[in-house]
Order: sequence, then C-alpha cells, then structure tokens
Amino acid sequence: MSKIRAAVFASGTGSNFEALVERDDLVCEIAFFVCDQPDAKVIEKASNYGIEAFVFWAKDFSSKEAYEQLLIEKLREKEIDWIFLAGYMRIVGHALLRAFEGKIINIHPSLLPDFPGKDAIGQAYEANVRETGVTIHFVDEGIDTGPIIAQETVPVYEDDTKETLKQRIQVVEHQLYPKTINQLLKKITSS
Ligand code: GRF
Repeated sequence: MSKIRAAVFASGTGSNFEALVERDDLVCEIAFFVCDQPDAKVIEKASNYGIEAFVFWAKDFSSKEAYEQLLIEKLREKEIDWIFLAGYMRIVGHALLRAFEGKIINIHPSLLPDFPGKDAIGQAYEANVRETGVTIHFVDEGIDTGPIIAQETVPVYEDDTKETLKQRIQVVEHQLYPKTINQLLKKITSS
C-alpha cells in the first residue's frame, strides 16, 4: 500500500519540519512543503531534503481566499491528504479548512487552552506558571482552539530563562509531533 502523503506548512526556522522529515518511522510521506515567508530558514532545509516547495507572499494576492485557492490546487496536484502546520504564522481560512476538513493538524508550545496565539512560551514564562507544555490539535477557524489530540507537560524551573524553557519545550515538540501523527494515522487507517 502506498504511503499517505502529507504537506508541512511552516514560516520560520523549521525545527519541527526537520523533526518530521528526519523521523524514519513516520507512517506518512512528507511530500510537499508550503511557506509564506520567502526569507525563512526552513526553505533551505526543505530544499536540502529535496522536498518540493511552494513559497508565496500573501500580499501578492487580493485575499486569503485567493492564495488558499492556489494552495488547494497545488496540494491536489501533489495528491496531499494531510496538512501539518509547524510554525505556520497564518490563520487557516475557510477555503483550506473546507478542502481538508478534519485533516489539518497544528503544534502549539503551551498546554492549550492556556496561552494561545503568538509567543506562547513567553506568555507562560511571564505568567510565572510552574508548568507549561506542548499541544497537538486539529485546526478550526479559531486561533489554537481546535480539538486537542495530545498534550505533554514541561516543567518550568526556578532558574529557567525564556531560552532554556524554549529549548526544553522544543525537545518535547520534536518527539510528540511525529509520535502523535503516527498514532492518529495508524488509528484512522486501521478503522
Ligand atoms: C514551534 O514552537 C511550534 O509549536 C509553533 O511554532 C514553533 C515553530 O518552531 N507553532 P520551528 O520553526 O519548528 O523551529
């Protein structure tokens, strides 16, 4: 049986993108990559792995609907079934949500529903919480509001800086994202 084909959407450094691509037991193939920041570091990573990319500036389009329609065409052309957001800094619109209903997943560096939106690690750090973590969830119209698939707690230590906390959160992210994708896709394909 041929592998499920997935696309990763990212806008930044791409450490989660890399963790997915490097994971040799991933049950799906990362067959496409989408980026909305033409100067993002993650683009070079995708190119080094030989993964075909679509890079765009949202401002070159008249609306979210317009660039998402083009994205949908590209994703269909590449026979993509699933979308994994990994630091994609745009809100997914109706067009993409409809086209990939129930098949878009995001990773967020907090224990949602706490600290949604930008700089979740900084928000948790400033709030002086004793623990934070990582959430994997389905994407809906809201900002980090979709149904939760998996969560893992990360303690915040007295002597943590925002940077040390971020490093420990990322270690968890890089394990939890591929593990959760594998569990979910295995469950879906066996039912
Ligand atoms: C990660 O912390 C992820 O949870 C959030 O954006 C960050 C992306 O980091 N959505 P990277 O580009 O994968 O290193």
